[in-house]
Amino acid sequence: MKIFLSLAMVGFTLFASDGYSVYKKQCMQCHVEMMEKQEVLKKFKTLKAPPMVEVSNRLKENIMIKEEDDAVKRRVIIAFIKDYIENPNIDYSMCRLGALDRFGVMPSLKGKLTEEERQAVAEWVHDRYSGVTFK
Ligand code: HEC
Repeated sequence: MKIFLSLAMVGFTLFASDGYSVYKKQCMQCHVEMMEKQEVLKKFKTLKAPPMVEVSNRLKENIMIKEEDDAVKRRVIIAFIKDYIENPNIDYSMCRLGALDRFGVMPSLKGKLTEEERQAVAEWVHDRYSGVTFK
């Protein structure tokens, strides 16, 4: 029974889309996972995109849910990220203007991720930084 359970768990980890693996494969080349503001300023010229900790924090700051329902807010942020992966757009970007000038708009990753992978990575971008402030 124990062996069966561990095998089942290995199978689950292998086959379920794991948000962090998707991040490493599809996002990390542009968005570093963690960096403090001060370091960002120092390394601004070498970065290709805002660090993911900044992206996650900004979405949480900008997206407001009137009833302050955390589950609804999480759902809306995840939907925004999922959509942004395929349809990045200067009009929807919440990036600071200076950063947009420097980085340009994100290229669309349409066709590179499955629906499941977009869901998993969007959840990861939200959940990875809960309680982690970009400072
Ligand atoms: C080729 C480089 C590149 C890759 C790969 C990339 N991004 Fe981006 N991304 C950018 C740049 C540049 C910006 C900032 C400009 C903008 O907002 O479009 C950005 C912005 C974003 C934003 C919007 C932030 C805001 O404040 O509006 C989200 C969300 C995002 N990326 C998520 C992802 C996710 C998730 C992945 C991987 C699935 C990914 N990105 C892969 C370059 C990239």
